[in-house]
Amino acid sequence: MNIVLGITGGIAAYKAPDLVRRLKERGGDVQIVMTASAAEFVTDTALQAVSGRPVRSNLWDKEAERAMSHIELARWADVILIAPATAEVMARIVSGGAPDLLTTICLATEAPIAVAPAMNHVMWSNPATQANRKVLEERGIHILGPGVGSQACGETGAGRMLEPDTIAAAVFDLGVGKGEGLLTGKKVVITAGPTREPIDPVRYITNRSSGKMGYAMARAAAAQGADVILISGPVSLPEPPGIEVRKVVTAADMFDATHECIGDADIFVAAAAVADYRPADMKKQKIKKNEESMSIDLVRCPDILASVAALDVGPFTVGFAAETEKVDDYARSKLEKKALDMIIANRVGDDCGFDSDDNSVNVLWADGEQRFAEASKTELAHDLIELVARRFYAARGTDTQPRLTVIANTD
Ligand code: C5P
Repeated sequence: MNIVLGITGGIAAYKAPDLVRRLKERGGDVQIVMTASAAEFVTDTALQAVSGRPVRSNLWDKEAERAMSHIELARWADVILIAPATAEVMARIVSGGAPDLLTTICLATEAPIAVAPAMNHVMWSNPATQANRKVLEERGIHILGPGVGSQACGETGAGRMLEPDTIAAAVFDLGVGKGEGLLTGKKVVITAGPTREPIDPVRYITNRSSGKMGYAMARAAAAQGADVILISGPVSLPEPPGIEVRKVVTAADMFDATHECIGDADIFVAAAAVADYRPADMKKQKIKKNEESMSIDLVRCPDILASVAALDVGPFTVGFAAETEKVDDYARSKLEKKALDMIIANRVGDDCGFDSDDNSVNVLWADGEQRFAEASKTELAHDLIELVARRFYAARGTDTQPRLTVIANTD
């Protein structure tokens, strides 16, 4: 993986050489781009020694630009990681300004960008910084951390840069490129996110699914070498690189898209929270509020999971069940009723499940179960994909080209 590592001027820059080593240990090729203030905390001599490449810092360095221009650097990168990221660089990226080499590369790249903020906890919680964080997230920039704990300024709070190893693991987890692993050579289809069922041209029924769990499953399957097709309802998540994403809106669209590509799929991960009901007909014009009350006729949406599980040459099927109560009971009855091979159950509610980055689940199958403690959806997805693959191979044997279906709606 080609990594442009942007280092900005925070005290945590002293950890940058260690971060470079961690990225290289995982197979990263690291090109460092540091800002002028970063040079106050760490020397380019140390960084050049660990990265094995001359450090770039000046947009106007003619010789360096001749060797690899800022545009070439922006194209070369599979990922841009900024660690430590100061409040200042976050603000500059938000503004779209490009006064230095690093922010110019950020503007010119199509690669995913991840930032690991590091600053005093009051600076981090300042509304301006939090507003910038939100904008960055909405634009699909990955925010890694910050951690909570004692700070260089002697205070304690949120604002510590995550540990280099944690950052390196997260960067390699962005789903950049396809890995080799348990699912190499397998085709995995995954549905994710909510569906949106129109009432009239301006209103619709939807649910609180963020798509995070399904996207994490897609990245985890790709990391295990699978060819992944991600069929996604409307979410505000960046498209994971190396994964074919098909955007849909309604349950009917999702049903069609699934059946278009399920034919030769080995794995079907339906992580979507598909609407159970949709308005019987979409009004052509905006409904006027003339009456004191009104009702909307709803009809059932097609059950994508059930339709895939009922295919004659049926794939190995795993469903997710998001429940607010009696989670295991409801999940097991769904497992049986829908004739699934596995079901992944989790509790959802105001305090957990939907937009959260963490989740805890219980996986059930005919004669067993496995509980997974609360972890980030990314970590959890890796463990779940591994378990699914193991259960699948146990059911079908390792020397065949098995078909596997995972169906989920926990997020
Ligand atoms: O029956 P219930 O909706 O709770 O089942 C949840 C599972 O069924 C999830 O995996 C979800 O993706 C899937 N599902 C579906 N099509 C629907 C409703 C649910 O694929 N219309």
